[in-house]
Amino acid sequence: MEIEHGVSLKPYNTFGIDVAASHFLKVDSLETLRTALKAPGLPPPFLLSGGSNILLTGPVEALVLLMDTRGKEILSEDADGVTLRVMGGENWHELVLWSLEMGYGGLENLALIPGKTGTAPIQNIGAYGVELKDVMHSCEAVDLSTGALKTFTREACGFGYRDSIFKREARGRYAIWSVTFRLTRRNHRIRDGYGAIREYLGQEGVTQPTPADIARAVMHIRRSKLPDPAVLGNSGSFFKNPVIPESQYRELQTRFPDMPAYPQEGQTVKVPAGWLIDTLGFKGTRCGAAGVHDKQALVLVNHGGATGQEILDLAREIQDAVARNFGIAIEPEVNII
Ligand code: EPU
Repeated sequence: MEIEHGVSLKPYNTFGIDVAASHFLKVDSLETLRTALKAPGLPPPFLLSGGSNILLTGPVEALVLLMDTRGKEILSEDADGVTLRVMGGENWHELVLWSLEMGYGGLENLALIPGKTGTAPIQNIGAYGVELKDVMHSCEAVDLSTGALKTFTREACGFGYRDSIFKREARGRYAIWSVTFRLTRRNHRIRDGYGAIREYLGQEGVTQPTPADIARAVMHIRRSKLPDPAVLGNSGSFFKNPVIPESQYRELQTRFPDMPAYPQEGQTVKVPAGWLIDTLGFKGTRCGAAGVHDKQALVLVNHGGATGQEILDLAREIQDAVARNFGIAIEPEVNII
């Protein structure tokens, strides 16, 4: 076990924030993780995976454990589908591409989401009509206090919109070790209901889309409005889309007739935070090196050299403006450290 000190986390967070970790260890086996958890005199552990959903606002005085495990294993297979176990350190998008090459359906709508497989369950990643919970069978997680491996069924994960028990009651308690998926080999469930997907397929003349066609459409849409973290630091959607009472929405509609909304359970609607932020004129604005993406107002970006605090200040300014103008509280989706 080789613990490094004063390691810059810049290469390990997609915002590209340059802060140091007091202690840093790459975890590539269960043995390494268990040894680190038991070792005396070390600061508390801090799990880092793809770094695609965090905003680092200061030096990290912790034992940063970079999840770096690899491997995929087919647990069972029949004519209809496969049950596939994937180690947490596997890159998410590479997994999606590999699954499509193998002819498996299920992950196509989730193409190009940054990050690693192990963090997918934490916030129940979702895009274009599919969430992780639709394809996940179970996951294994290491209890950080005992080192024991525990299996969580999909139900036990308590999934919600960008939410799971790993963000709530079990927060900070587990390292997700592997994720098991149920994927299809035939009779794929094609989810092309999202307007932009249909538009793309229509332009391409595709009438009977395969999972690979859906992935192509998703990649095209994402590349057209979401910045590539390798080029422009960002963490995808910075805020969650707020859910408000239908009555409040009707009131707002009298002032903002074109405000979009998606009906939810219990007489509530989900309003796109991107629309709220865009309507207030924030799209493409900059505050020093921190900015709002010019093609998607829900995404905050680091134009180069921004500190986490600068990005957080901009986020707060946006939250205040949305609260003042619409009476809606928007919450960060990104974990602020
Ligand atoms: N909109 C604007 N201006 C903007 C951005 C959006 O008016 O700058 C409007 C759009 O016109 C549309 C609506 O807001 O009417 C929704 O926009 P979009 O379809 O782009 O989706 P989103 O709500 O902005 C969510 C997810 C994304 C996911 C897409 C597609 C959240 C917080 N974000 O974005 O997830 O890719 O839907 O499913 O739920 C992520 O979590 O990092 C992420 C990128």
